[in-house]
Amino acid sequence: MLTEIDHVAIAVHDLDAAIAWYRDALGAEVEHRETAEHDGVEEAMLAVADSYVQLIAATRDDSPVAKFLQKRGEGLHHIGYRVDDCAAALERMVQAGATPIDKAPRPGSRNTTIAFVHPKGAFGTLIELVQEAERVGSGA
Ligand code: CO
Repeated sequence: MLTEIDHVAIAVHDLDAAIAWYRDALGAEVEHRETAEHDGVEEAMLAVADSYVQLIAATRDDSPVAKFLQKRGEGLHHIGYRVDDCAAALERMVQAGATPIDKAPRPGSRNTTIAFVHPKGAFGTLIELVQEAERVGSGA
């Protein structure tokens, strides 16, 4: 079901500072940058082979990422798993007892289709299912 680690997401206070550090310390370059206003998050995708490190920062104080940072500080936020069929993967997880945050797949950044699954019942890790753009609709 899982075809790749799509991204590892790390919550940071200062996106530009984090981007500079990843460039200087790890040689990782930004391949894509996007703001999702309704989620209150700005992201930078740094390419690592076929996967990404996703640095995320809050765009407003009441966004989920802002609350995460207030409660837990900077650090690992979620794992994005690449799948061929987001809806099928979500259904399988729910049938296995996982708690969905998104009841149905929805648009994500980079024209992906995504669904989040709650860390509770998933051994403490927020999980994102990511279906890439070129695969959207292929099986639907
Ligand atoms: Co993500």
